[in-house]
Amino acid sequence: MIVLGIETSCDETAAAVVVDGHRILSSVVSSQIAIHRPFGGVVPELASRNHIKSILPVYRQALEDACVSEDKVNALAVTQGPGLIGSLLVGFSFAKAIAMVRKIPWVGVSHLAGHLNSVFLESDPPTFPYIALLVSGGHTAIYLVTSHTESDTMGQTRDDAAGEAFDKVAKMLGLGYPGGGVIAALARQGDPGKIRFPRSYLDKTRFDFSFSGIKTAVNRYIQEHSQDLPNRIADIAAGFQDAVVDVLVYKVITAAVTTECKRIALVGGVAANERLRSAVTAEAEKRGLTVHIPALSLCGDNAAMIAAAGYHLLESGIRGDVTDDVYSRQFNRPLTNNA
Ligand code: KG4
Ligand code: ZN
Repeated sequence: MIVLGIETSCDETAAAVVVDGHRILSSVVSSQIAIHRPFGGVVPELASRNHIKSILPVYRQALEDACVSEDKVNALAVTQGPGLIGSLLVGFSFAKAIAMVRKIPWVGVSHLAGHLNSVFLESDPPTFPYIALLVSGGHTAIYLVTSHTESDTMGQTRDDAAGEAFDKVAKMLGLGYPGGGVIAALARQGDPGKIRFPRSYLDKTRFDFSFSGIKTAVNRYIQEHSQDLPNRIADIAAGFQDAVVDVLVYKVITAAVTTECKRIALVGGVAANERLRSAVTAEAEKRGLTVHIPALSLCGDNAAMIAAAGYHLLESGIRGDVTDDVYSRQFNRPLTNNA
């Protein structure tokens, strides 16, 4: 089945053509980073307006790159939430309209289920069940994933998402937006042992996260050493990154050990972080666990993961309805269908 995926939940306009939920024929991502950078974060209204401009060219590019004509597409999958409402509405209305004109099935997909399914776009995907650490700019959570369409949330952040913490610390250090990649690059030149920021484990037997304490500690350190910041900035980045990574690694490994699950997946934008990738892999190896991490292009937001997740919903008979609406937060909605 050829599924065309569409993703517009935040500031990336993306479309992709994927066969049977795993073989990518094309994946086009049009980033708005340059538009939002001067504002230090995503401006929702600007995001919506730019999705409107980009959606049709991005859709056409995905078909062209895939060498697939529109009439060969069997179904559409589109992000329904969580995300910015104005952004989601652009992709969702567009996909609905295309599916209705072309009289093909379509389905709304959770953005989080998309990230969880991103590992199936790689050549050696995990078997079920597996533990997933989803770390992005909007979410940080651990799931026990039991099928393409079912997962239990074991824990999630009580305040900031891990990526959000990276972005906020980068802002404090005057490094611009988004901050994850910049902090990671700077951390490579720093000594992670120089400044020890607090690790917030909360209850060590549970899987919730909190990153606001680390963020506050970094802010305090910056205020106290404002005169000497240029000499310390790389050590601050390295110390902060290690504090976040230590907590993420501890929680995901503990989740796998507790559930006796042998496989771990690392997904979402922060899964691009080299330190996190190597630390999870090293700790997992010690315990005989296998780690699955998608390629960098599949860690950040993309539409191939939406097509992959949508394929499995379509296969299980789920279809979008003309009255379906988007949603901004996941709350206690099931991750993998649009109920
Ligand atoms: O999944 P994603 O593209 O969008 C959301 O769904 O939020 O994740 C974006 C987040 C941003 O917060 C960005 O700073 C972070 O991922 N990020 C990183 C790295 N690359 C991107 N964080 C840490 N290290 C990186 N190398
Ligand atoms: Zn995302």
